[in-house]
Amino acid sequence: MTVYLVGAGPGDPGLLTRRGAELLAIADVVIYDRLSAPSLLDLAPADAERINVGKRSPGGATQDEIHELLVRHGRTGRTVVRLKGGDPFVFARGAEEMAVLYEAGIPVEVVPGITSAIAAPAYAGIPVTRRFSSTSFTVVTGHEDPTKGRTEVDWESIAKVGGTIVILMGVANIDTIAARLQAGGLAPDTPAAAVRWGTRPEQHTIRATLGTIAAQPLAAPSVIVVGEVAGDDLAWYTHRPLFGRSIVVTRAPQQASRLTDRLHDRGASVLGVPTIDIVDAADGGAGLRAALDRVGDYEWLVVTSPNGAARTLAALGDARRLAGVKLAAIGPGTAEVLTRSLLTPDLLPDRYVAEGLLEAFPDPPAPGAKVLL
Ligand SMILES: C[S@@+](CC[C@H](N)C(=O)[O-])C[C@H]1O[C@@H](n2cnc3c(N)ncnc32)[C@H](O)[C@@H]1O
Repeated sequence: MTVYLVGAGPGDPGLLTRRGAELLAIADVVIYDRLSAPSLLDLAPADAERINVGKRSPGGATQDEIHELLVRHGRTGRTVVRLKGGDPFVFARGAEEMAVLYEAGIPVEVVPGITSAIAAPAYAGIPVTRRFSSTSFTVVTGHEDPTKGRTEVDWESIAKVGGTIVILMGVANIDTIAARLQAGGLAPDTPAAAVRWGTRPEQHTIRATLGTIAAQPLAAPSVIVVGEVAGDDLAWYTHRPLFGRSIVVTRAPQQASRLTDRLHDRGASVLGVPTIDIVDAADGGAGLRAALDRVGDYEWLVVTSPNGAARTLAALGDARRLAGVKLAAIGPGTAEVLTRSLLTPDLLPDRYVAEGLLEAFPDPPAPGAKVLL
């Protein structure tokens, strides 16, 4: 089978490509980096093997160990997704990993990803080009392989190119880089910005100039932008109403995703801490089935949660058995489960709690009438 080098995008899980999501969904093994968003791992099957090779994680792997892992798993015939932050061919050693797999005779495919070089500035409201003023952009690494013992980046020449300069991995060497760009002719008042954790809820942008950027409290991972566009402030991501808020969602995992997506879309950082676990009844549902066998004897059937409604309908089998029985539902989510089966509740209290049901319940059922709850 194939090893897929998949770009995970810059952090926002919504920026994964459709092809990347399809491959994660069928992966047997996912080998991932520090910069790939953790929630992307949830797209892989529950029984897929997940291997963290983040170089800065505890027990992180060396590049040789990653090669060895890729070849070993690639040879098993299983579907292997090698998930890499951003794009696998932008400062991500994707080419080296691909060459090793080629040499071992293992089929490899590449799924490009959205690179942080463009996405982090975009989420900070900085376009990397702008008509007339910034007609090109150059993406440069600020951290070359220390074993080379020499630098291949000619910062003085890059300063003369004239467009936007986007620097990845530049935090540690920003003083040298800024000095050399100025030596190459860029004015000290050229706008500069550093976007840290771009596209993530922790995103933070520092704006300065080429002359002052090295004195700022920069930290990795950051994309540093130098040029006229770094003065643009078309911020939108950080302006969303819940940006900067961390919200814990306590719903059971099966029911959390819609709420989580909506909070995320409004800018919140969402942490799933399920406090409810939905499990099968100890009797395997025998009690529910027995009650539903006599559902025609009841005046009302009350369902109190989406999950309860779904289980009731599954145990019921044929909705015609509810003929003549009135239906009450607590909460619009519960009602929605019923209406999906073409059942319209007769009663839907305004307050989504048991007390709301009592308040809204019409006349007490006639003596002897029964309510199935
Ligand atoms: C090893 S490079 C990987 C680049 C990646 N392949 C890409 O296309 O974005 C790591 C550097 O990318 C930049 N980077 C990656 N993700 C980032 C993010 N979400 N925010 C800011 N910088 C990021 C930082 O400069 C970081 O030091």
